[in-house]
Amino acid sequence: MKLILATANPNKVKEIQPLLPDEIEVHTLKDIAYSKEISEDHDNIEDNSLQKAMTIWEHTYTTCLSDDTGLFINALDGEPGVYSAMYAGEKRDDKKNIKKVLSNMKGEEERSAYFKTVFTLIIDGEIHQFTGILNGQILESPQGKNGFGYDPIFSHAPGLSLAEIGLEEKDKISHRGIALQKVVEFLRSRGK
Ligand code: IMP
Repeated sequence: MKLILATANPNKVKEIQPLLPDEIEVHTLKDIAYSKEISEDHDNIEDNSLQKAMTIWEHTYTTCLSDDTGLFINALDGEPGVYSAMYAGEKRDDKKNIKKVLSNMKGEEERSAYFKTVFTLIIDGEIHQFTGILNGQILESPQGKNGFGYDPIFSHAPGLSLAEIGLEEKDKISHRGIALQKVVEFLRSRGK
């Protein structure tokens, strides 16, 4: 089966592709020469994820999978949430985003947060969504060099940031890994 991964983010392709069953022929937007920016103009990640998948489905009518993720910090009323990518400005900048979170969290003792990923799979014209959540804490300062985004300031286990574990380990526990496992189980149940 051919599946188009509706993301232009190479980090995500790197994380998602190895977790899908070998029988699935994964194509990226680059592979199908789709270079337009896909709009994400909703105020929640469920609708943005759906919008991305719908855009590619209507362009290809081929099974497609999209995801949208946000970091939700309880002390900041769920910020940066759906605006995680461009929290510190129009241009996606992980370092500036981290700086803004740490500045907004300065002196805050309640540091609980969670990542949420919503995958949207469109298959045979049907829409299915799968959610994964990873609970943790916002660290006082960045730690580690792996991963991307807010990984250096997000701790899922005492004293350790997501940027201090390997990709394989991250896949097992992460919001994206959990949601993707659900996608894989669903595809298997459909005999794909
Ligand atoms: P996206 O919707 O998956 O592009 O995610 C939006 C933003 O959330 C990204 O630009 C990152 O800043 C952040 N993000 C998404 N997934 C992760 C992750 O696994 N670790 C850290 N940050 C992430």
